[in-house]
Amino acid sequence: MILHPTGNFDNSARDYKHITAVPLAAAMGAEIRDAQISDLSEEQFLEIEDALYRHKMIFFRDQDMSHDDQEAFTLRFGDFGVDAYTTGTEGHRNVQPVVKEADTRTAMIFGSGWHTDSPFMEAPPAISMLFGADIPPYGGDTIWCNSALAYNNLSDTMKKVIAPLKVHMTGAFVVGKLNELNNTGQSGGGYSEPKKFGDIALDVNSNAMVKGWYHPMVRTHPKSGEKSLYVDHTYSHGIEGMTNAEANGLLDFLKQHVCQAAFSCRLRWAPKTFAVWDNRICIHQAFNDHDGFRRELYRTTVMGEVPK
Ligand code: SIN
Repeated sequence: MILHPTGNFDNSARDYKHITAVPLAAAMGAEIRDAQISDLSEEQFLEIEDALYRHKMIFFRDQDMSHDDQEAFTLRFGDFGVDAYTTGTEGHRNVQPVVKEADTRTAMIFGSGWHTDSPFMEAPPAISMLFGADIPPYGGDTIWCNSALAYNNLSDTMKKVIAPLKVHMTGAFVVGKLNELNNTGQSGGGYSEPKKFGDIALDVNSNAMVKGWYHPMVRTHPKSGEKSLYVDHTYSHGIEGMTNAEANGLLDFLKQHVCQAAFSCRLRWAPKTFAVWDNRICIHQAFNDHDGFRRELYRTTVMGEVPK
């Protein structure tokens, strides 16, 4: 049994001058008020950036914003990330649709399963953003876990054990599952070639995804200097220099540890809600629990650095 961790929690808001931050949960997350993404001053942007690094995930309600506005906001953090799954929306190469139609039935949706975005790449996206366009009346929430808090709640002995380790981040599980669902007509998109993820047309380099990359299991955030556990359920499958049997035992424990409810926050979407999170320091997952209701969001990412 994993005990409910205690101590080490501080998700209190800073006293900003140009925005208001309202914490979402004890572990992480904050709503940012008094800001419109389509009309931000530089002072507001700097406080939003600070709030993102502090709370790991931030969200804004009632945003009147276009794809152009989302792209412009994304570029304030850095270049666009390389998306490993789609070729974007018409006229907006870097805005990826995340859509599930009301009548689509599929065993796996885009983003289901705990993950950090595309860690099978050498330089995974640092930051991801989602704008909610069409949202189910209930269900379809997104949940995040704070990987720095998870790291801080490991024993000093475990921290020493994992400090030198590199984890194999591979898309093998996702590619295998997508092949299985598409080849048996259960993807939500029928028997589909090129492959689909529910209603999302895919453009993936399966070989590169499966080959993946070895990254430090303990990652240091380049801006805040915080250490975090860089382990997720979807992509972490192996440890450099260990047999699978050895790696699986340790990874099973760490996967259960990192996604504890105590480290989480959960967002109930509404149309015009915009969420931003830092993949370097949290994991997230979408719920596939809204059959009968359409869900449509738009995603952009910021280019990341090679994890250190
Ligand atoms: C994602 O994993 O980027 C998608 C999350 C969601 O659809 O809630």
